[in-house]
Amino acid sequence: MKGIVLAGGTGSRLHPLTLSVSKQLMPIYDKPMVYYPLSTLMYAGIQEILIISTPKDLPLFQELLGDGKKCGCSFSYAVQDAPKGLAEAFVIGEEFIGNDKVALILGDNVFYGAGLAKLLQSNNNPDGGIIYAYRVNDPQRYGVVEFDESGKVISIEEKPKVPKSNYVVPGIYFYDNEVVSIAKTIQPSSRGELEITDVNKEYLKKGKLNVSILDRGTAWLDTGTFQALMQASQFVEVIEERQGLVIGSLELAAFEMGYISKTEFIELAQPLTKSGYGNKLLGILNKEV
Ligand code: G1P
Repeated sequence: MKGIVLAGGTGSRLHPLTLSVSKQLMPIYDKPMVYYPLSTLMYAGIQEILIISTPKDLPLFQELLGDGKKCGCSFSYAVQDAPKGLAEAFVIGEEFIGNDKVALILGDNVFYGAGLAKLLQSNNNPDGGIIYAYRVNDPQRYGVVEFDESGKVISIEEKPKVPKSNYVVPGIYFYDNEVVSIAKTIQPSSRGELEITDVNKEYLKKGKLNVSILDRGTAWLDTGTFQALMQASQFVEVIEERQGLVIGSLELAAFEMGYISKTEFIELAQPLTKSGYGNKLLGILNKEV
């Protein structure tokens, strides 16, 4: 299965922070934001990943992440000229996807939870679409899922004024290859975007949309406002410093998934010890031995 990280957009809700630098390069505690979704895909068992960003920001992502080889992965890059919607990722990525299935993750979505990697791995061979639902307080900001009494999904609506439930769709999606042709047929919404919600509605119509509820032990963090950005940093700091864990590390994901050897992992961590990040990685190794 292939993966796409969509890291476009204007970041206008974080101006002036993001006037000259991409939102997805903002720090979440000690790492650039994009590390978190990228490592989530790696933990899902995906090694071939396309990173999509704006013409202006794409070179910065290339500089930061390179070709992915040192993490045992292959990273490639593509431009989204204008913020024309999440579903456009499948049109831009058509050649990259080829005949494979594909996962999409948004470059500003941070997930963390025990058992999450296993859950994502179990869903990485979809026949149709697999998405998740997560309970939030402010559903009107997201794609909202409505369930019937038996737990079956009956509707999905993008940013409804009157949400039919508190369950919303977080920014990680798994699809079979048909997603490319579906993305090509949907029309832009009133906000001028190819909506991922319209893709999901197509799968729902065909009876091929699987929606699993992400349990409340999983954290899905927002990074869309100054406050949310700060809270995400604090969350990561608390878990990392209290438990000696490292969240959202590409190096650790590569090692834990067996994409690189222990020696290669140590070689990646050693040049990063001055900031303390490398020491944290090496510390994990000591605990495991
Ligand atoms: C997008 C999707 C929405 C989804 C959300 C998750 O919203 O359109 O369905 O719930 O991502 O982060 P946007 O970021 O475009 O506001």
